Amino acid sequence: MKLSRRGFLRLGMLGVASVALPIGRMIGPMNELAKAGAVTSPPVEPFQVPLPIPPVLKPVRTDASTDYYEMVQREATAEILPGYRTTIWGYEGIFPGPTIEARSGRQVVVSQRNELPVPVVTHLHGGVTPPESDGYPTDLILPASSSHDANHGTGHHHGGAVAHGTRDYVYPNQQRAAMLWYHDHRMDFTGPQVYRGLAGLYIIRDEIEDALPLPRDEREVPLVITDRTFTADGDLYYPSLDPTLQGQPGVVSSFANGVFGDTILVNGAPWPVLDVGTARYRLRLLNASNARPYLLALDPPPPNGPAFIQIGSDGGLLETPIPHDEILISPAERFDVIVDFGQYPVGTSVRLVNREGVGPTADVMRFDVARREEEYSEIPDRLAPEEPLPDPSEAVEVRRFQFIAGFFGWPSTVNFRIFDPNRIAARPRLDTTEIWELHADPEHPIHLHLVHFRVLSRNGGPPGPWDAGWKDTVFMRGGSAQIIARFSGYRGKYVFHCHNLEHEDMMMMENFEVV
Ligand code: C2O
Ligand code: CU
Repeated sequence: MKLSRRGFLRLGMLGVASVALPIGRMIGPMNELAKAGAVTSPPVEPFQVPLPIPPVLKPVRTDASTDYYEMVQREATAEILPGYRTTIWGYEGIFPGPTIEARSGRQVVVSQRNELPVPVVTHLHGGVTPPESDGYPTDLILPASSSHDANHGTGHHHGGAVAHGTRDYVYPNQQRAAMLWYHDHRMDFTGPQVYRGLAGLYIIRDEIEDALPLPRDEREVPLVITDRTFTADGDLYYPSLDPTLQGQPGVVSSFANGVFGDTILVNGAPWPVLDVGTARYRLRLLNASNARPYLLALDPPPPNGPAFIQIGSDGGLLETPIPHDEILISPAERFDVIVDFGQYPVGTSVRLVNREGVGPTADVMRFDVARREEEYSEIPDRLAPEEPLPDPSEAVEVRRFQFIAGFFGWPSTVNFRIFDPNRIAARPRLDTTEIWELHADPEHPIHLHLVHFRVLSRNGGPPGPWDAGWKDTVFMRGGSAQIIARFSGYRGKYVFHCHNLEHEDMMMMENFEVV
């Protein structure tokens, strides 16, 4: 893999040998390597399966301030590849999980019940959430079936707040409209548990967005992009050292820089197809892949003008739209874009392609322009109202964090340290602004819980083409980025980490505590 070779070279120059690391923890059996690399999914004819849309979950009850939801996390079978039955772990037994539609300012409580054989943790990614509901990696929900022995199936659980069977997560939604997502965040096992299906969308709406003449209803389409590999009999293939996910964490060492699948799924379907009309569509993109970034483009590109008009980012609407011919989206990032299929004649097939893919991973899905449709939407020049941005001169602290990939069984680190739930790397004071200077080698999507930030600069220059708006994840390919955030919302302990889930599980994570 090109990625890991680059990693080795750069790491070689940094001389990490002086760092004390628990070798052995992450080293996979070397005889697994050949086998692991050899798994290829059963072939699928692309663009045959209609694009599924995850169902919207109904609250079990509502009152004046709150909508209450219940979800069961359980094993189920799904027909992902036509003609094959795949065992998944899903919220409500489906992958992606059901979508929650929330209103800004109105509280949501989600009761999560764990009917899986392993502990789980549920994190709302992008949520401004009190610490006890944020899904801290050691705040486990033990299986409902387990006895009250707190150690069941956990190996060791590092002293988090452990629940038995069920936990209620409280989401105040005191934040602007945006597309968030919820996913598993269990210490050491997030990669395999998300891979098996534990991810879903959580969309917050507000009046500002409602007032805009954007495409809506069936012309607002969420696209959850993932890559997976399947075994010959259709099961998900993930190179865990312990496939029961009860004992030793980690993956065989050839996958230490990420598990990349050979089959691209959108909303859980392989290379699906969506019939569209000659009109603008709002595509709400989420890269929910464990490790794979995508450089998205349209083929053929629209005859007049850019493929995508970006209207929003991780943290919601931009102030003004931005045209892009390509979008680079790393794991956990969201891009909210408008595509104008009115620029294509009826009968055109438009592929959403991945310019960084090779062979099957170079395709994502297809849109078939199937009918004339009347246009009602517009893309206003002004989207979100202007708001004061964090002011660099008000930053009370500048911190520096270096993210370095592991190799040859060495864990991935932040400032050369592996994750320790009991060590706090930064203590920002509530309602103060800080600048964090991030360094990444070779390639990491870096995510902060609780806050949304702005990218101030990259390598001392201006931010990159995909850095606009409020972000909670910044994709770095070497070099440095300065981000600025105001640590508002709640006091407490939160994590920040690489969102390459194999790096995260292999300890590329740290704590900050808002004090
Ligand atoms: Cu999407 Cu800490 O994660
Ligand atoms: Cu990483």
